[in-house]
Amino acid sequence: MGTRAHEIHDIVGIGFGPSNLSLAIALEEHQASAEGQPVSAVFFERQEAFGWHRNMLLPQATMQISFLKDLATFRNPHSRYSFVSYLHASDRLVQFVNNQDFFPTRQEFHQYLEWAEANFRDRVSYNSEVTGIRLSEGADAAESGAGQHLEIEVRDTVSGATRVVRARNVAVSTGLVPRMPDGMERDERVWHSSEFLDRYGRMKPEELGHVAVVGAGQSAAEITKFLHDMLPQAQVSAILPSYGYSVADDTPFANQVFDPAAVDHYYFGSDTTRDAFWRYHKNTNYSVVDTDVIRELFRRAYEEEVAGHKRLNFLNLTRVKEVKRSGNDTRVVLHSLLDGEGEQEVDVDALVFATGYSTMDATGLLGDLDRFCRRDEQGKHRVERDYRIVTDPELTCGIYLQGGTEHTHGLTSSLLSNIAVRSGEIADSVVRRRAGAAPAPAAD
Ligand code: FDA
Ligand code: NAP
Repeated sequence: MGTRAHEIHDIVGIGFGPSNLSLAIALEEHQASAEGQPVSAVFFERQEAFGWHRNMLLPQATMQISFLKDLATFRNPHSRYSFVSYLHASDRLVQFVNNQDFFPTRQEFHQYLEWAEANFRDRVSYNSEVTGIRLSEGADAAESGAGQHLEIEVRDTVSGATRVVRARNVAVSTGLVPRMPDGMERDERVWHSSEFLDRYGRMKPEELGHVAVVGAGQSAAEITKFLHDMLPQAQVSAILPSYGYSVADDTPFANQVFDPAAVDHYYFGSDTTRDAFWRYHKNTNYSVVDTDVIRELFRRAYEEEVAGHKRLNFLNLTRVKEVKRSGNDTRVVLHSLLDGEGEQEVDVDALVFATGYSTMDATGLLGDLDRFCRRDEQGKHRVERDYRIVTDPELTCGIYLQGGTEHTHGLTSSLLSNIAVRSGEIADSVVRRRAGAAPAPAAD
């Protein structure tokens, strides 16, 4: 992708996962339906090509949302970028319907995302990591007549060279951040689930006589099942902080927490309202597992008991206290709340921490620019309903967040459920504010 050095874009997207891909679509479709100057947008992605959690593209792993919650349909059911359009283009629509399943595999959804992404390559730079955003120097901006704008520093991950791109708005969409328990370090034998397939692929199966997986969420359960499938001779241990896996509530009433309307209920609700969303509905997403995966794991363990050959082990109410590494040896010190809260040590050939993710935080990218950004009592960014960080009035440029807004916009913030609608709202906001119209109301 080529950008002219002095061009000032309406918006620069940082990260090109599903959220900013959906924004690219929303901007394109906005342009097609509206009069006026086109919105100029470019995107920067640090990966070498498009990829959506590639290291967790396990065989048979399914989506956790309906295929209709794709990049565009909830905003524009006529979009040519819908999952249904993709099926039609792939000549699979009829068979998809015959298959009668709302939840495609993650591999099929990945193919859909790549199919959509192929239309936007002229606007995306890969191998391009954004390292910082700063405000244009006052004098420079005034002299060039460009007015206030942002300078986005982009590092080429291959050559190491940096360049600066200019824009009036940014959409930060850098995704979830892998989380390791305190004091635990990753290496060639100790992995986080976000790097799983890459790390696993570097091992020889015969090197893996005993593998262990820490955590009781969807990632942990899927990896445990995968290792049990792939390593028929190995001992597979699941180290669960809970007494057993808990089910992800995806029943219809609870699922409404992911509706576009729930964003308003959350955003304009009181602290008590917001607290109630988390208290009652955290189990729709966090530390929970799809029913079919839970049942499958239990069935396998039971069959092994019947056969008298047990190699799938569940260590309940257990946490990792320490990992001792030396060469290829990995000794894990476990603390169990069972049997008098004892400690035990087990030797493994690989240890996977499927211990979840922290939410996106734009602070690091914003650097000095953060001084214009307002924060709430908890120290989190205040965010307007249109996903723009609330800033001091002297900053007229917009910093939009796609992710990291759980505290203001609720449970959908890090998920796909609402990306089509959210991207439309951001695109509308950029256009509306460019025309000088009043911003949408903000919560206190
Ligand atoms: P995402 O993380 O996908 O993309 C962010 C991009 O930004 C990445 O490509 C990254 O390389 C790039 N980036 C980061 N920093 C950068 C920088 N400084 N410069 C340039 N690029 C940078 N949700 C759901 O609703 N249904 C589901 O089925 C699933 N399934 C699922 C599976 C797994 C294994 C995980 C871990 C998570 C899910 N999720 C999910 C939740 C997940 O957050 C969601 O599917 C999307 O990945 C969100 O898309 P984003 O584009 O916001 O982030
Ligand atoms: P998660 O739901 O946050 O689960 C993390 C697990 O690790 C929890 O059981 C947690 O226990 C445990 N844990 C955290 N810190 C620990 C510690 N120090 N010691 C022991 N255990 C610890 O994370 P996830 O499973 O990676 O899921 C993240 C997101 O990705 C979710 O949205 C999920 O739906 C999605 N996902 C989707 C798919 C798919 O689409 N097929 C696959 C995988 C993931 P506590 O409860 O005690 O914190």
